[in-house]
Amino acid sequence: AIRRKTAPDIRARKRGEPIVMLTSYHAHTAALVDRHCDVILVGDSLGNVMHGFETTVPVTLDMMILQGAAVMRGSKQALVVVDMPFGSYEASREQAFNSAVRIMKETQCGAVKLEGGIRMTETIAFLSGRGIPVMGHIGLTPQSINTLGSFRAQGRSETDWGPIEDDAKAVADAGAFSVVVEAVAEPLARKITETIAIPTIGIGASAACDGQVLVLEDMLGLSPRTPKFVRRYGDLGPAIEAAIEGYAADVRSRAFPGPEHVYDMKKG
Ligand code: KIV
Ligand code: NA
Repeated sequence: AIRRKTAPDIRARKRGEPIVMLTSYHAHTAALVDRHCDVILVGDSLGNVMHGFETTVPVTLDMMILQGAAVMRGSKQALVVVDMPFGSYEASREQAFNSAVRIMKETQCGAVKLEGGIRMTETIAFLSGRGIPVMGHIGLTPQSINTLGSFRAQGRSETDWGPIEDDAKAVADAGAFSVVVEAVAEPLARKITETIAIPTIGIGASAACDGQVLVLEDMLGLSPRTPKFVRRYGDLGPAIEAAIEGYAADVRSRAFPGPEHVYDMKKG
């Protein structure tokens, strides 16, 4: 039997072999990601990718649970981490606990992720002390878009470093097993990674981090826009469109279905 990776397994990778993480929201892509990655993130980026929202703010707990359960069914060995969506955890540690329990019971995932540093320390400690492994998320926190005003890289002036470093330390001290560091200037990401005791998983935060994460559709070339920090490992958008064009042409010319796709009558 294949043993699934756990939050402690990932925690133990600090300063070790880099942690490989990708997002997935579906059973079939989860099966592919599962063969090569340590962690599968069911990110609230599904709001953008699956639902066409401009931000992650409209994503609900029910959406996260539906896709989280699908990813668990599709995967065998990776740790599955499900994002807590905007509004499901910020009000109190009890609200966060109740939301996280729903996620863990209904998906059977191994951990949850939530955004925020110092302001989330009590919540992270409350959850991790009660059987819920928490992955932190600092730097650019997309759920705060409406107070931030825009999505832009953090810590590009040294005078801005203090609060981000404090967030990283707070998340680690509160008991998170790892932390996503998003869109943070390289020297700051390196300093945080060297300073804190838990693995940092970077997205737009340089190779200095203990691991990396990308949104699967971004690296596959399936997203309409790809951020600066994404390397495209595929060009699936044009490939899928070419396939669709071929199908449409064959249906219109009656070249599809062919004789091999047709059921004969039974003999006798
Ligand atoms: O929602 C998501 O996909 C994420 C990653 C970008 C880290 O939070
Ligand atoms: Na997210």
